[in-house]
Amino acid sequence: MNPEFAAGVFSAARAEFADWSARLWRPLGAITAAVARPAPGERVLDACCGAGASAVPAALAVGPSGTVDAVDVAEGLVEQGRQEAAALGLHQLRFTAADVLSWTGGPYDVVQCCYGVFFFPDMDAGTRHLASLLRPGGRLVVSSWLEGGMARIVPIGRDAALPERPELAEHGERVNASDRVDTPAKVRDWLSSLGLRDITVQQVSFTQPLHPDDAWTLYLGAAMRAFVAGLPPDALERVRARFVAGLAEAGLDTLDASTIVAVAHRD
Ligand SMILES: C[S@@+](CC[C@H](N)C(=O)[O-])C[C@H]1O[C@@H](n2cnc3c(N)ncnc32)[C@H](O)[C@@H]1O
Repeated sequence: MNPEFAAGVFSAARAEFADWSARLWRPLGAITAAVARPAPGERVLDACCGAGASAVPAALAVGPSGTVDAVDVAEGLVEQGRQEAAALGLHQLRFTAADVLSWTGGPYDVVQCCYGVFFFPDMDAGTRHLASLLRPGGRLVVSSWLEGGMARIVPIGRDAALPERPELAEHGERVNASDRVDTPAKVRDWLSSLGLRDITVQQVSFTQPLHPDDAWTLYLGAAMRAFVAGLPPDALERVRARFVAGLAEAGLDTLDASTIVAVAHRD
């Protein structure tokens, strides 16, 4: 996804994104930070930080002697993170609204990126850039969705929008590159192909009940929102109805947000 487009989609999504923070983004962010294990005093970059789901636990872990740069292109989410960091008195956590692909801070001990790399227009080049910000021996931590989970919902969301947005068909079935990193083996091979070493990969099961109303909030609070950007209220209502019906038809009353978290080291 073009960074400017991502900025618009995710900033517009801030209210619905926040609705899913407690049940989705924060617990998964805490899991990523638990795998990344930032140590007191370490310097961390949280790339594609959203509202700080993994940046806040990282800041608590590095403590006042460390630093966390939390960077996201969506100002609407970054502002939520800033407010939380201020409320918690986390002076070591600095939020910046920027395209992380042109971020030049560092060097960092840890660069972590939750559910972000597959939005980069070139996932390999973007992730190489993140790795280049590490000190030698530093660790890159990447979280992605496990196959058969989120990937079941997104095509239903796309099909629901298709009658209102026929141009979506021109982009093909693939909405982003998440299918390149949806198994532990794929993630390991991919990170290795980028020249990283000592790679460990964890798979974490994570599910939530999915009420139809909450499913629609999830649609509007995540990347699926891109399918309906700019649609008027009556068209949105038709998409919502088709989406909810599609989930019911597929028997999806549970959100499977099972996750892969990988740690890889720079030479
Ligand atoms: C699915 S959200 C995840 C947010 C956060 N990491 C979390 O887990 O709560 C993906 C995020 O990637 C951000 N993003 C996508 N491309 C970006 C880029 N080039 N630079 C910075 N942020 C980007 C979006 O704005 C969005 O906030």
